[in-house]
Amino acid sequence: MDSDLSLEFLRVVEQAAIACARTMGQGDRHHSDQVAVEAMRAVMDTVAIDGTIVIGEGERDEAPMLYIGEKVGMVHAKNVKGPKPVRFAEVDIAVDPLEGTNLCATGAANAIAVLAASNKGGLLHAPDLYMEKLVVGPSSKDHVSLDAPVRENLKAIAACLERTVEDLVVIVLDRPRHEKLIQDIRATGARIRLIGDGDLSAGISAAVVGTGVHAVMGTGGAPEGVLTAAAMRCLNGEIFARLVVSKPEHEARCRAMGITDFKKVYRSKDLAPGDQIIFAATGVTDGTLMRGVRFFGDGTRTSSVIMQNDPRLIRFVDSIHVNPASDVKIHF
Ligand code: FBP
Repeated sequence: MDSDLSLEFLRVVEQAAIACARTMGQGDRHHSDQVAVEAMRAVMDTVAIDGTIVIGEGERDEAPMLYIGEKVGMVHAKNVKGPKPVRFAEVDIAVDPLEGTNLCATGAANAIAVLAASNKGGLLHAPDLYMEKLVVGPSSKDHVSLDAPVRENLKAIAACLERTVEDLVVIVLDRPRHEKLIQDIRATGARIRLIGDGDLSAGISAAVVGTGVHAVMGTGGAPEGVLTAAAMRCLNGEIFARLVVSKPEHEARCRAMGITDFKKVYRSKDLAPGDQIIFAATGVTDGTLMRGVRFFGDGTRTSSVIMQNDPRLIRFVDSIHVNPASDVKIHF
């Protein structure tokens, strides 16, 4: 996969973020999601790829666009102006056009528009089930385990980061299912940041030094887990994850996607095994790593991260999208 594609994918997440940012705080998470999906789908057609959605908005009968298996990219687009390139890279794509629909609908922090792309077969086709997760940064990734007691993991992370457990900040989704986990973390003296939604952006923060986030623990969506893994492949962090398969119906959904070992602990390389990974995200609302979309009359400003694993390159991109025919003033 050509790494120049990363800037193409940047356009895709920027436009999804801009579209749904217009709905920020309007209290309608479904509408916010819908406009992000539509914008992402429209821009995807302008990217010179032969793409397949492997993680998306659901099955074909549940979602009108960006559904699992949908073909996207210029090779499949009907209304492309001008000549099409002769060769198209075959790419698998995981999308979450609006990660944190409630965050956008309420104007809360850390809503993002996000996608990951890989050479064919490079992203696990994960069912939309829950997944137990532990996300850490590069220094502690070889010293923790999904099955270790919380106290041991936090002691190990603190030692790797040369600080005390009391200095750590762990992000946990604020859910009743995490009552015991939260108790266990509190018992160690570590600090907790409870979040309403968005364990994907939390996971990215845990892998970047200086964010003040040292781990993410708890159960969240499996699709977000695959996207987190793609980011970890670029950032050299790690996600440890296990699908929550608690009903026969879950088993059937796993089998339909070729998963038969329901107890497997996945690491980033299992969830996102591609040799070439591109990960792109744009802030919708202000967040830890990216600012939200700002509309300023003459245009729109977006803040994004675009990363690739080979060669490893992480770009923080501040874009100013200038309105046509406006006597624009660009501010630093
Ligand atoms: P949406 O983007 O669909 O609103 O989901 C966000 C999210 O909080 C994820 O970050 C997380 O993995 C998952 O939902 C948790 O699911 P639940 O809300 O069912 O606990």
